[in-house]
Amino acid sequence: MKLAVIKESRPGESRVAIVPEVAAKLAKLGVETAVQTGAGDAARFSDADYEAAGATVVADAAAALAGADIVAHVQTPTVEEVATLPQGTTVISFLQPVASSDVVKAMADKGMTAFSFDLLPRISRAQSMDALSSQATVAGYRAGLAAAEELAKFFPMFMTAAGTVPPAKVLVMGAGVAGLQAIATARRLGATVRAYDVRTAAKEEVQSLGAKFVELDLEAQDGAGGYAKEQSAEYLAKQQELLAAEVAAADVVITTAQIPGRKAPVLVTEAMLAGMSEGAVVIDMAADSGGNCEKSQPGERVRVGGVTVVGLSNPPASMPTHASFLYSRNIANVLDLMVKDGALTPDFNDEIVVGMCVVKAGQVVHAGAAEALGVAVATAAEPTPEADAGAADDTGDAGNDGQDDEQQGDEVKS
Ligand code: NAI
Repeated sequence: MKLAVIKESRPGESRVAIVPEVAAKLAKLGVETAVQTGAGDAARFSDADYEAAGATVVADAAAALAGADIVAHVQTPTVEEVATLPQGTTVISFLQPVASSDVVKAMADKGMTAFSFDLLPRISRAQSMDALSSQATVAGYRAGLAAAEELAKFFPMFMTAAGTVPPAKVLVMGAGVAGLQAIATARRLGATVRAYDVRTAAKEEVQSLGAKFVELDLEAQDGAGGYAKEQSAEYLAKQQELLAAEVAAADVVITTAQIPGRKAPVLVTEAMLAGMSEGAVVIDMAADSGGNCEKSQPGERVRVGGVTVVGLSNPPASMPTHASFLYSRNIANVLDLMVKDGALTPDFNDEIVVGMCVVKAGQVVHAGAAEALGVAVATAAEPTPEADAGAADDTGDAGNDGQDDEQQGDEVKS
């Protein structure tokens, strides 16, 4: 079986879907990796590294893709790229099926099968495959470092002969996977950290990292599967009002709040920026999905009065070696589930396989994408006779329910 790795084409993307170490691991599963020359360069993996790991390095994308059974990608391939993929091949990537419904259609038209990490069920068994989490870990770490670099003050407390410098005060808004990593990074650098999240379950995790959880006298609506729910406009207005004093007291605010499949909530308004002190820094990790700060721009550093607002864009790509390593391991773990005896045989009775599937042999099985395309949604699941008899109730509609990027699963681990 052949897996193709080509150079990512989206601007600013420096990650590679498969790193040499994982190519060697895949070979043991019976999967041969063909890599376009230079595909790993930006992530600091050379052609020689791939060759030493047993992968084949070829001259261009066309040679890598020729006869490939699987194509591993980081970013959603473009429609033009899909046109170059082999008929009927299987793609594993981040696909954002509703936002990229044109790509989904192009894949369906070529009889392909596509699996997306955006849709991976957040259950314990899938943790080793959870690329959203692995990349959020990198993003949170980068956000912590970006804050320390941008601030014209020390993060740790310094007691010197010349005088004592107090530690920086960091406020983290949104304490999911990325936010917790930003907290841990700021703590490692010696800052005092306060953090806030709408999910009450985040409190214990924040405290376990040595940060203080900011409690607001507000009743948030908890979402399903450990995810946040979009809060009402009244809630957000009240939240902004209550958090203004926290923001004003901070040297650094790091925002990571996201709602799967929706625009990010605004947590820091222009008025709140005006209340911050000279030299304060805001690092907005949600800049690519609309921004948690009213003034942030993806990939830009904006001065608002005395405050610097940094809109991080695709932060995992700024640490591509380890981001690629983790992503690549996530792919290998998905393939471990789907490859048996050297053949790609995904079990469409497995909730991970069904959950991730966007297109199955040319049929759109993601309801949100099908709706966007105006086509009927097909069912991914192929229940076994036993499952039919015994587990009809708990599989329910075992197809991908299509809540774009909104995960299901009761067995969610906090
Ligand atoms: P995310 O990237 O979707 O959102 C980031 C954070 O923003 C979340 O903690 C969310 O509650 C918060 N947020 C949303 N609106 C907000 C607002 N208005 N104000 C403040 N904060 C707001 O979330 P992420 O990091 O992908 O995961 C969230 C949770 O999912 C985790 O903490 C965990 O409980 C669960 N999870 C479970 C996994 C598993 O079992 N395999 C793997 C990863 C996460």
